[in-house]
Amino acid sequence: MYVCLCRAVTDKAIKQAVENGCESFREVRDELDVGTCCGMCVPETRQLIDETLAKL
Ligand code: FES
Repeated sequence: MYVCLCRAVTDKAIKQAVENGCESFREVRDELDVGTCCGMCVPETRQLIDETLAKL
């Protein structure tokens, strides 16, 4: 499922970035470019990052 339509970033890609070591929204954004256009996806991306970190 796409979380960020502007940059075509999926929930899977975000989870994978966290599993591979990203620990903050900024780090995920730098890696995937997520949230760098309209910003609509930022709350959902942050939530996904938190959920994934909690499971590690
Ligand atoms: Fe992610 Fe627009 S949907 S920046």
